Amino acid sequence: MKLARIGGTENDGVCRLALTDEEIEARRLLITWADEIGLSVYTDDISNLFFCLEGTETDAPPVVTGSHIDSQPTGGKFDGAFGVVAGFEAIQAIQESGVVPTKPIEIVVWMNEEGSRFSPGMMGSEAFTGRRPMEQILEVKDVNGIRTVEALEKTLAMFPNIKRRSLGFPMTAFIEAHIEQGPILEELGVPVGVVTGIQGSRRFRVRVTGDEGHAGTLPMSDRKDALFSALEMIGAMRQAFDTDQVKFTTGLFQVSPNVPSVVPSNVLFSIDIRHPDGQTLKRLGNAISGLCEENRGPCAVEVMEIATSDSLEFPNEIRACISNSAQELGIENKPILSMAGHDARQLHYHCPTGMIFSPCEEGISHNEAENCEPSDLATVTRVLAVTLAKLAS
Ligand code: GLV
Ligand code: MN
Ligand code: MN
Repeated sequence: MKLARIGGTENDGVCRLALTDEEIEARRLLITWADEIGLSVYTDDISNLFFCLEGTETDAPPVVTGSHIDSQPTGGKFDGAFGVVAGFEAIQAIQESGVVPTKPIEIVVWMNEEGSRFSPGMMGSEAFTGRRPMEQILEVKDVNGIRTVEALEKTLAMFPNIKRRSLGFPMTAFIEAHIEQGPILEELGVPVGVVTGIQGSRRFRVRVTGDEGHAGTLPMSDRKDALFSALEMIGAMRQAFDTDQVKFTTGLFQVSPNVPSVVPSNVLFSIDIRHPDGQTLKRLGNAISGLCEENRGPCAVEVMEIATSDSLEFPNEIRACISNSAQELGIENKPILSMAGHDARQLHYHCPTGMIFSPCEEGISHNEAENCEPSDLATVTRVLAVTLAKLAS
């Protein structure tokens, strides 16, 4: 709740975009928490933050947990933040239990998971794992034309005394705790989800170009209305993807010049499609260009794919470790597929990775009303603590 006040909105949500003053303040708060419990602090060239509990083997690859503290502009208190706070609580519990881990245990805060300011997101975990070239990441601009590299340098300059580490250092395992962001665990009445994998996604930007004209005088038949063409394209995709198995979203939509009496000449919109089956996702994504082309009317259209993530399955040994930890604590748990994307998706290609889900109220997320039961979060955190201790021993 203390973290949620940083960037807190009038409607009880959170707006804490990556590399903003709010996010910098949140970093400061986490650093004070780390100091209080004696964790050392590191950062890296993309401004991921690491908080480290030493093991008896200081050079062993650490067991890492954590998530992100950036949010959607109208986000909630728990998406990402829970995984980071849970990491602190789990490490503190391990310290208080008197167990000294063999391997170091660390909390990571991945930079820009959400991608709402600098898009696409997951910049910290992609740069760390080398899954997207740094040069590409640094040039991404926000809506005000600020480049990632500028915001990054500003953020790093705020913390001149934090030691830098290299990107991509080896890890024994990565375990991300997160809220489910969907309704399944709550409906089942199960407090812990052992995540089996993450459904795949493809993200596009579509640019539609027509011509400006006078709203009162230009004959309808002579118009090149970019908005009308964009709506046809979206309607055609909606029809083509009409099953609940496909999640299809156009969440960004920019019209210009965006004034009442001028025919719109330009539209830029986003497409986010997700499906658990790789072949289906491929087929749907590959249909997008054609659907846009067929429905462009008199306008020009350009379709750009900006991010693709395959569906993936987390390794059995990590899933078993989480599930056994829950069982030892007498906590009911069920396997669950993640419908949302997470940094764990990138870490999966770097080290043995898994995730633990908590139920959240009515599955509401990416919404200021996002809410969770403290007791559910505590339950997941206990499972996280035992899992981390096992992996580090
Ligand atoms: C992550 O925030 C996602 O959009 O899945
Ligand atoms: Mn998240
Ligand atoms: Mn999110």
